[in-house]
Amino acid sequence: MLQFDTIRYMGNKSRLLDYIIPAIKSVTPENGIVCDIMSGSNVVSYALKDTFTVYSNDIQEYSYVISKAVIVNQTETITAASAMKELKGNIEDNERKKHFAFFEKTYANTYFSLKQCCDIDSIRYAISKIQNTYRQSLYLLALMNAMCVVQSTPGHFAQFMPSKHKRIIPLQKMDLRKEFLKKCNLYSYIYFSSCDNKAFCMDYKKLLEDGFIDEVNTIYLDSPYSQEQYSRFYHILETLVKYDNPVVNYKAKYRDDRFMSGFCYKTKVAEEFRTIIEFCKNKSINLVISYSNHAVLPIEELKNLCKEYFRNVEFEKIKYEHSTQGKGNKQITEFIITCSI
Ligand SMILES: C[S@@+](CC[C@H](N)C(=O)[O-])C[C@H]1O[C@@H](n2cnc3c(N)ncnc32)[C@H](O)[C@@H]1O
Repeated sequence: MLQFDTIRYMGNKSRLLDYIIPAIKSVTPENGIVCDIMSGSNVVSYALKDTFTVYSNDIQEYSYVISKAVIVNQTETITAASAMKELKGNIEDNERKKHFAFFEKTYANTYFSLKQCCDIDSIRYAISKIQNTYRQSLYLLALMNAMCVVQSTPGHFAQFMPSKHKRIIPLQKMDLRKEFLKKCNLYSYIYFSSCDNKAFCMDYKKLLEDGFIDEVNTIYLDSPYSQEQYSRFYHILETLVKYDNPVVNYKAKYRDDRFMSGFCYKTKVAEEFRTIIEFCKNKSINLVISYSNHAVLPIEELKNLCKEYFRNVEFEKIKYEHSTQGKGNKQITEFIITCSI
């Protein structure tokens, strides 16, 4: 199974690939096209890359950066040595002139130490000076990945640790640059195929409405399960890739333009699922869904919705220990629902 080291991401499916990929393969023709319509960390898209043409979409721009770096087939790779050569001059320039200083001014001694914030700003500035957009995406992925290693948080960016927390000192002492260079070396090995893979960054409704994915054979749907908005948990990564100096609010310094997904609301979730299920039925596209028994829409309701539109619906049940990002592990049952034409 193809796997790569990516960001720490709530709900990522790296430990469920052995179930999800066979389910997708069971309904998709050889050389077919699969759309991972809410791809997050992109681990599922990447695992499909040696078998199918892959379209990867997510509303969040950090996820789009990952898709461009590792899903779209290009022939660029990076290493720590290439980073030293391509970025060093502009990193030093930013240290002297502070062209980019948003992290230093906004997040010092919260999610990161002052020194880590200064390093983030300077590396980000140097990346912005790179002309090749693929190399830019690879370096941004390495930087996001390094930030996920040193972050002073419970594992996501919805909150930072209090200053007296026992883990703060070792975390804030970590050398972000060293972690960044280590991560650059990881991306010297990316699997390339000859397929015309695509990356999108939009609300899934627009992707459906505008005909971008009419030709796909299978959609894989891994929507948010809970009421927690991904835009709140990963606002720091969004700001890193956009670097647009946003207005931030609350103690946790959230951006004020965060996307609110309908899958996180009890009142909206059924209609969101219906939109995709109905689209797949009308366009004769197979649909594979990941969901759990601890989610906003009760699993029985989701099953019934699938059966309303598809005659062939299969359910696979997997007992799974799910990390609650800082609050230990919880036993849940994961479901893979396969609707085929
Ligand atoms: C459970 S995560 C996906 C995890 C992914 N399969 C992985 O392994 O990393 C759900 C994703 O849905 C995205 N999302 C939520 N609402 C969306 C929408 N309306 N359109 C597109 N993406 C959306 C979130 O940004 C998040 O990345």
